[in-house]
Amino acid sequence: MSRIEKALEKAAQMRNETPATTVAAPPPRSPSEPLKKLGLSRTITINPDNRLLPTLQDPHSAVAEQYRKLKSSLVSLTKQDSFRNLLMVTSAIPGEGKSITAANLAVSMAQEYDLTVLLIDADLRRPSIHTYLGFEQTIGLSDCLQDGIDIGDAIIKTDLGKLSVISAGREVDKPLELFASKKMQDLMAEIKHRYPDRYVIIDTPPLLPFAETRTLARVVDGVIFVIHEGDTPQASVQDAREVLKGCPIMGVVLNDSTLANIESSHYSRYYQR
Ligand SMILES: Nc1ncnc2c1ncn2[C@@H]1O[C@H](COP(=O)(O)OP(=O)(O)O)[C@@H](O)[C@H]1O
Ligand SMILES: [Mg+2]
Repeated sequence: MSRIEKALEKAAQMRNETPATTVAAPPPRSPSEPLKKLGLSRTITINPDNRLLPTLQDPHSAVAEQYRKLKSSLVSLTKQDSFRNLLMVTSAIPGEGKSITAANLAVSMAQEYDLTVLLIDADLRRPSIHTYLGFEQTIGLSDCLQDGIDIGDAIIKTDLGKLSVISAGREVDKPLELFASKKMQDLMAEIKHRYPDRYVIIDTPPLLPFAETRTLARVVDGVIFVIHEGDTPQASVQDAREVLKGCPIMGVVLNDSTLANIESSHYSRYYQR
């Protein structure tokens, strides 16, 4: 019996021990049923018509090309003496395009013939990867952190084959505390070593309102910093740079940029609405 099944069994037992409601006993279930119920045994189909996923919707577009450039830069930065495969995407404030960047980067990487990718929704407060990829929120990171469910049991396969996902999991009371916990750091280290040949892309909360995000920035191999052109106040970018001092920044994405046609821009990674 896998750990997830044990946890579900335990939860069922606890429910049974709780007095009050009397309901008819459920029919006996087969050992594989809990996983099916949670949807973990299925392969999700990513909606190819989502305009926010240009890497899938229109892989030949200029926007998709920018993601390929970002991917190529990261691949050359990460495949050096050791494989620096644990990457996080963050930004100064909410709504700058972190999740969109993480999802498109993951898709773009998974389209490469020799890269496998694990995309993790670690924004436990405002998870959105499931919305962008088009699947229902299911068991995920928070359940692994809180209930000790094995991370391998939380991995969802996608029809892209080389892309798999871990969703944020169930809503928790103190998402930021859980995100910044030692357990989270240990879990990320475990993932890095358990999946040594996969890129792990972690979508995170923003840096400024939530000091907790910086704890992970010190643990990962690389930080991809997103700036929403025209929206992010300059002071916030400066503050975020301070917060990230000493962290391994691997790339800056100027999201929703009007510079998309300037070949030799200082920011080589951006895309246009
Ligand atoms: N490049 C873009 N093109 C079109 N819409 C965008 C773009 N970047 C962000 N958005 C809009 O902003 C919203 C927030 O993006 P998201 O990636 O979820 O932000 P964050 O994760 O930083 O909070 C998206 O749902 C989308 O409506
Ligand atoms: Mg987000």
